This record gives sequence, C-alpha cells and structure tokens, in this order.
Amino acid sequence: MIEIKTQDEIKNMRLACRAVAAALADIAERIRPGLSTLDIDKMAAASLEKSDAKPAFLGYRGYPATACVSVNEQVIHGIPRADKIIKEGDIVSIDLGAVVNGFYGDAAITVGVGEIKPADKILIETTKKSLDEALKKVRAGARLGDVSNAVEKTALSKNLSVIREFSGHGIGRKLHEEPSIPNFGLPGTGPALRNGMTLAIEPMLALGGEEVKFLRDGWTVVTADNSRAAHFEHTVLVKEGECEILTAL
Ligand code: MF3
Ligand code: CO
Repeated sequence: MIEIKTQDEIKNMRLACRAVAAALADIAERIRPGLSTLDIDKMAAASLEKSDAKPAFLGYRGYPATACVSVNEQVIHGIPRADKIIKEGDIVSIDLGAVVNGFYGDAAITVGVGEIKPADKILIETTKKSLDEALKKVRAGARLGDVSNAVEKTALSKNLSVIREFSGHGIGRKLHEEPSIPNFGLPGTGPALRNGMTLAIEPMLALGGEEVKFLRDGWTVVTADNSRAAHFEHTVLVKEGECEILTAL
C-alpha cells in the first residue's frame, strides 16, 4: 500500500527535507580538492544539527555515517573515509537523509570538483535532467511507469546507462516505503499516483555499462567497468498539478 500523508505529517517531512537541502547546498559550496570524504560527512552532520534534524542513514542497517559520499566510479553508498581524498576533476555524489519528529527526507546531488572532463559534465547534467524530467511527470493521476520512463528516456538520449539494481522509493514515516521506483519502465504502467503520496526519486546513471558490484566494505556500490556514475535525488509530494519538491532549497 502506498501511504497518503496528512498535512501534519507533510509539515514534518518539509522540515526534514529542508534540513537535507540546506546541508547539501552548504556542501556543494564548500567542497574542494584536499578534503576527505569524511570531512564532507562532518559538514553534513554539523549542518543537520544546526537545523535540529537527525541523520537518517546513521545506524540504518548498520550504516556507519551521516552521509553517503561516492566518488567517480562509486555509484552510491560510499562510506566516508579520512583517507579518501577528493581531487580536482573528481565527481562526487553526496546522498543525505534526515529525520524530524519521526518523518524522513532524502536527497542527493553530484558535483564536479574544479575542472572536470566534458563527458563527466554531460553525465552530471543528464542525470540531473533525468530527475527534472521525471518530476515533471509526477502528479495525481499519472502512473509510476510514466516517471520511471522519463528517467530512462533521458539517459538513453545521451547514450548513458541506467543503473537498474537500485531504485527510488516511497518515503515518510520510514526511509523506505512503498512503492519501489525503478529508473526504467513503460509509460501507462504501474500504480497510479495520488494526492498526498511522498516519493524519493533517484536516478543513477553511468558513462559505461549498467552492471555494478559492491566493494569489500559491504556498502559501496561501484560500476563493474569502473566508468563514472552520477546520482541525483529529490523527495517530492504528489499534488493534483505539478509536484512539490520538498528537498528544493
Ligand atoms: N538515498 C539512499 C536510499 O534511499 C540512502 C540509503 S543509504 C543508507 O537508499 F545508508 F541509509 F542505507
Ligand atoms: Co533514497
């Protein structure tokens, strides 16, 4: 069952989502060569605390940090480390979740550090565009497949591959709720969206193949061919018209 949120629940989600958005904006502004991915995690933790929000990922199934910081061929769930140093030309995905009064917000961005390769720029821009195109489809009465298809179509238009092993998700009282939201699919299929549903939509695209594997830390997901990947995510509220992007700043 896909839950419909009350106004009061949405209020709390807005607070959690704004805390996430503010932290990501702060990180995007301050990221630079020489910082470790653990430094990024500390920024995220400090920013959430300032917003009176709690980290959502810390302790989730044993996850050991506040943020996921995934560099270059790392797709998602990169565990922040003091010895993983960010360099000029890297692309860094930061995924962050927060909880306020028991309600969750979840968002991710990928940023290029300094001068980046043209192909990486296309990868980042197209992944962001695939999320934007997906969000345009989110409204009461649309089908989930319309949303999934928008991501896939945008990726294919630039010859990028869609990471199929991981999906977006419903969100609210829990980090992961129904439905699962694949980044590929057919328009006109899947559950109908309704006013008051809250969804975390998160395209993950790669320059090479779609196959992924886990690093030995049991968390970090990397592309099997070591090609670079990007990830963007927003938590949104389904409405009759255009959706409300709860994690927009
Ligand atoms: N945005 C990711 C997701 O929805 C974050 C989960 S990371 C974890 O799955 F550490 F919490 F698992
Ligand atoms: Co998510």
